[in-house]
Amino acid sequence: MNNEIRVFCPATIANVSCGFDVLGLALDAVGDEMLVRKTKEKGIKITKLTGQDLPTETLENVAGVAGLAFLAASDYQGGFEIEIYKKIKAGSGIGSSAASSTGAVWAMNELTGRPFSALQLVKFAMEGERLASGVAHADNVAPALFGGFTLVRSYSPLDIVKINTPSELFATVIHPQIEVKTSDSRRILKTTISLEDGIKQWGNVGGLIAGLFTEDYDLIGRSLEDHIVEPIRSILIPGFDAVKQKAIETGALGCGISGSGPSIFALSKGEAMARKVAQAMTDVYEKIGIDYDVHVSKINTEGIKKL
Ligand code: HSE
Repeated sequence: MNNEIRVFCPATIANVSCGFDVLGLALDAVGDEMLVRKTKEKGIKITKLTGQDLPTETLENVAGVAGLAFLAASDYQGGFEIEIYKKIKAGSGIGSSAASSTGAVWAMNELTGRPFSALQLVKFAMEGERLASGVAHADNVAPALFGGFTLVRSYSPLDIVKINTPSELFATVIHPQIEVKTSDSRRILKTTISLEDGIKQWGNVGGLIAGLFTEDYDLIGRSLEDHIVEPIRSILIPGFDAVKQKAIETGALGCGISGSGPSIFALSKGEAMARKVAQAMTDVYEKIGIDYDVHVSKINTEGIKKL
């Protein structure tokens, strides 16, 4: 068995418009790299962290906390050192904390003979999410681990369903350079919804799942609507309405907030359309003078992988 492993941990889009805290997808073109090494000494040490200004104290780092959850459940008697090479910006809304948490526990599982199932690894990684946002949500860690689209059918007991990914589906993600903390963008949400909004929302969740399985791109597009969270959170994202309007006018199937924002995602049929949509989205931020990063990506159906 190897003593160290280098892994690619994909960025993820949580919620996918209608599925707050339950739907997510993994990206191919953006992700972090991590190196995890076995040590004789017990415990977890973050020995290197590049690309972002984040804490390296084990208990303050999401990979550290997820790793401790792994160790607590494992028979393995040693510990691990972790090097984290961040490519995903913290607070961008494309699963930065989930990439670090899942990368750590996936690598540890590989290095110790795979004692845990992917579902168990999700539970360990959720401890990292609890540290990052105050809530142990699984809609970023599940697609990072399973790949493709995932549905958290239930949190208690945890039940995750992998959903088919239509082969021509591409994502465009634009990140306006402002930081929105997940904990803040969760705090502003209402804790109750109307029956009327619930009916619209679960209609769309069902429609999206059906559209993904039957590869019905029009149905996917019609279902990418969020009547509950987007109207509240979009206020935190400058230019959101204009970016969304331009993306749809250009031909995107749908467009919404990526996770808790501020990134905005669109799904398109085919790479050429996803690139056109990227251009339309960037035009908006060029006009209003906000810096941005933009990514066009195939959906990553594999999840975390060894490099
Ligand atoms: N479902 C979470 C939220 C995802 O929207 O707060 C955070 O990336």
